[in-house]
Amino acid sequence: LIYLLPNIFPKYTARKAYQGRQRVVNAFKEYFQITPTLEKTSALTMCRWNSYMVENDIGMDAMARVEGSLAFGLLVNSVPTTFWTIFEIYKRPELLRELRQEVAENALHIEATGSQKLHIIDLSSIRKRCPHLVSTFQETLRLRMKGSLVRMIMKDTLLDPQNANPKDQYLLKEGSLLQVTAGHFNQSPEYWGSDALNFNSKRFMELTNTSKARQGFLAFGTAPNTCPGRQFASGEILSLVAMLILRYDIAPVGEEWIEPEVNTTSLSAAVMPPKGRIMVKVKARDEFKGREWQFRVGEDNGRFNLIIG
Ligand code: HEM
Repeated sequence: LIYLLPNIFPKYTARKAYQGRQRVVNAFKEYFQITPTLEKTSALTMCRWNSYMVENDIGMDAMARVEGSLAFGLLVNSVPTTFWTIFEIYKRPELLRELRQEVAENALHIEATGSQKLHIIDLSSIRKRCPHLVSTFQETLRLRMKGSLVRMIMKDTLLDPQNANPKDQYLLKEGSLLQVTAGHFNQSPEYWGSDALNFNSKRFMELTNTSKARQGFLAFGTAPNTCPGRQFASGEILSLVAMLILRYDIAPVGEEWIEPEVNTTSLSAAVMPPKGRIMVKVKARDEFKGREWQFRVGEDNGRFNLIIG
């Protein structure tokens, strides 16, 4: 029944969601009217097109659906996490100043191109030499990721079988779904100490993958389903944030940053987006006005030293 339930005439029982999904599928079908080439689309899309359509010919409808679900996974947590990382940094002037300095000294490369100076944000340098920025990102996730990890119970399992007190034992029944409330672990004083609810931008700089606290960090989930997009997400978010903090001052409309309400209707997001619009004033910083900018991914092992629960 659990497998059938979501599929009972979704066209009628989940009408709005069904129509929304159909719009996405139609948009991808329209997009694929162009035959992808590397000049016209990303390497990722190109690669998937070759695999699904050229080698396996799954058909345009299936192709559009596959891309729809990828776009969903790609964006649903990355976009709100980008927002909250920017929010947490800009509302703390001292942190903003420190991170600007770290990025400018370690991840900004300036190269002369004719009369111009090209300003390059190098992702591998962020990975290797901007530990405070990487820690700030993980601390943001720790406090903002409040989703659940979902597991199906494959066979009856008694938790803590050796416990003398049966009231402290739990029987998980085969076929049921287990929801692990990640937010509880991410913010539990048991793992993070008495300042568990405070934002400490340097907290992750001191952690290693053997620290006890890492068991309490479930923002990217846990084995065997740990988010496979975590390195990609960290790279895209931190390159963008690094460039943004160097180039722009961002201030709230009104005198201070106000904690926005979150949109709790976003059922699939582990990191809830803010509700409504947050109005800000953006001003290019004099230091870098009119410069030409680029991102670069230098040679390295392609990995952030992320803490995984
Ligand atoms: C900041 C951004 C992101 C966050 C916070 C995040 C978080 C998560 C979490 C909590 C899970 C569930 C893990 C578990 O059940 O133990 C997950 C799964 C997954 N994520 Fe992400 N994710 C992010 C970005 C991405 C991106 C960019 C992609 C794709 C490129 C992606 C692809 C996936 C996939 C395919 C799974 C399912 C893994 C499985 O079931 O084995 N994620 N993610």
